[in-house]
Amino acid sequence: MLWSMRAVDIIRKKRDGGELNAEEIRFLIRGCLDGSVPDYQVAAWLMAVYFRGMSDQEMGDLTKEMIESGDRIDLSGIPGPFVDKHSTGGVGDKVSLILAPLVACFGIKVPMMSGRSLGHTGGTLDKLEAIPGYRIARDPEEFRRVLLQTGYAMTGQSERIVPADRVLYALRDVTATVESIPLITASILSKKFAEGAESLVFDVKCGDGAFMKTLADAEELAKSLARTGKKLGRKIVAVITDMNEPLGRMVGNFLEAEESALCLRGETRGREDLMEVTLRLSAWMLVAGGMAKTPEEGMERCQKMMESGKPYQRFLANIEAQGGDPKAFEQGIGTLRAPIRRTLKASKDGRIQRIEAYKTGLATVVLGAGRNKTTDSVYPYVGIHFFRKKGESVQEGEPILELYGETDPSANEALSILRQAVHIASNSEETSPLHPRSLVLKEIVAL
Ligand code: URA
Repeated sequence: MLWSMRAVDIIRKKRDGGELNAEEIRFLIRGCLDGSVPDYQVAAWLMAVYFRGMSDQEMGDLTKEMIESGDRIDLSGIPGPFVDKHSTGGVGDKVSLILAPLVACFGIKVPMMSGRSLGHTGGTLDKLEAIPGYRIARDPEEFRRVLLQTGYAMTGQSERIVPADRVLYALRDVTATVESIPLITASILSKKFAEGAESLVFDVKCGDGAFMKTLADAEELAKSLARTGKKLGRKIVAVITDMNEPLGRMVGNFLEAEESALCLRGETRGREDLMEVTLRLSAWMLVAGGMAKTPEEGMERCQKMMESGKPYQRFLANIEAQGGDPKAFEQGIGTLRAPIRRTLKASKDGRIQRIEAYKTGLATVVLGAGRNKTTDSVYPYVGIHFFRKKGESVQEGEPILELYGETDPSANEALSILRQAVHIASNSEETSPLHPRSLVLKEIVAL
């Protein structure tokens, strides 16, 4: 039947609000890869999807077709369960670095295909590569070996995994169609299922430092991921978490690897926000992997496991298995910093009322920890260390944060952005407490 199909008819059908069938979706996806459907027609279809949306059936068919556009990582012969976590991106979001070794200690395999920093949000791969010698698994064989050896493995999207996503994403980027829930859903799920995950726990970030700014948008994405994932036979939990303030006290690539190590060693005081999100997502991974009946039981087990010190040992073992040098990493803690330092001091006595996540992310990009375009390279040792966080008191002249830059102009520019990001309320003013409410805003469960 494919011979009689025409892209123009499929575009028209979607433009007029119709539901495409699996063959029509296949025709477009295969056509955009082999060149038989030109970019301008694919772009027109993307815009039609942006305005008309997709049914659950269409999202499932699109996801399947995208998975089939490339290779899948073969995890056969490795005992499961296989559970992964995916974050939609935030500032100071180093959760994966703590969660993966923690969950792996329960016998759950965590095959992680992560991304790089882009825009104001950080990327797990850049954080890991700031560890001396660490390299992300370069091929499926290495990925399998590390997964078997340490229970979790870290890799990036290769040329051969979901090539359709690369083509579609590049077109979306230049046609203002990135912000489409069905297209985001298929893009994320196809990559995660191609890496071999059976169950997935999503951290859908919501707020000023996130892709989704409102709870309504975050909920729509969370539900879409859950419904489509379930339709494809996977277990899905989507946890919506607050991303209005940077997570933890450190932002930057090495700094975030360092802060993850500190948490794994038990130095979690003042990092309750980061640990709340990490433990909740880990607990759901235990539930999805059949190691706990409820998230509450999962949280308790995770807490105990953290106290045992085993997850930290697992983290060091993974560094070694992925070519890194655990000794050099540990020696670098507290010392590996870019040379230019600036301090932001409190302008008055009071309490920290707010630290804006988006501006913090921007300052980090100015320092060179993130990217404006995918081809930019990143500096491993630049970043920000917050000595004070929301709700903590501060005296005039006391340092609130220190930043580390590679050049004077970038350090100065980042400092001026951070000056606007940090808000202090006088002692007489009403301020919110350190933890006004849980960072976990909502959970969508499709198990
Ligand atoms: N992340 C993805 O992987 N794909 C999208 O479309 C958006 C965010």
